[in-house]
Amino acid sequence: MALKALGVKEGDIVLCQSLTFAATANPIIYQNAIPVFIDSNYETWNMDPNALEEALQKYGERVKAVLVVHLYGLSTDMDRIMNICNRYNVPVIEDAAESLGTYYKGKHTGTFGKFGVFSFNGNKIITTSGGGMLVSDDEERIKKVRFWSTQSRDAARYYQHSELGYNYRMSNIVAGIGRGQLKVLEQRVAKRNIFLNIIKGN
Ligand SMILES: Cc1ncc(COP(=O)(O)O)c(C=O)c1O
Repeated sequence: MALKALGVKEGDIVLCQSLTFAATANPIIYQNAIPVFIDSNYETWNMDPNALEEALQKYGERVKAVLVVHLYGLSTDMDRIMNICNRYNVPVIEDAAESLGTYYKGKHTGTFGKFGVFSFNGNKIITTSGGGMLVSDDEERIKKVRFWSTQSRDAARYYQHSELGYNYRMSNIVAGIGRGQLKVLEQRVAKRNIFLNIIKGN
């Protein structure tokens, strides 16, 4: 939905982190766009800003979005990524599926780019059994996504659909389960951080 909201279409290039789960890249293909994979670095385990800049120079105006990931809940170097993307005027989408509860310089991951995408899949830090969340401060685009994700039903008294619709709505029952789990989020993030510090050798 984020890619569609940014107008990504057939033949466009989306720069995407290579070290990630397939679900980061699949939506690029849904739009018939072309994923170009960018390597990660040793410091962040996420998208390498130097490699990103090289690709932006190489592909120029064909690049319509950059898709970064905060893998395992480790934050990407958002200062450098945002600085580079702003210079090239390319919107950033953050795949924050694994980083609920992660902050970068005091700001929550998933809130730096144009869109942030969170997952509440069964293997995530809190879960609604399935589904996720799209966040943005772009109210107009969020409104449009809400429309598409609830079957694109026009504001008519009868069933009328002028645009292709999707059934991506989270049900209120599973949303309730997710809200209940917010109570244990802090505790789980603290546990995860102990583990991350061990594997990162801190
Ligand atoms: C990095 C990453 N991106 C995307 C996804 C997809 O999320 P979902 O299963 O909610 O579609 C996952 C996990 O499933 C993930 O770990």
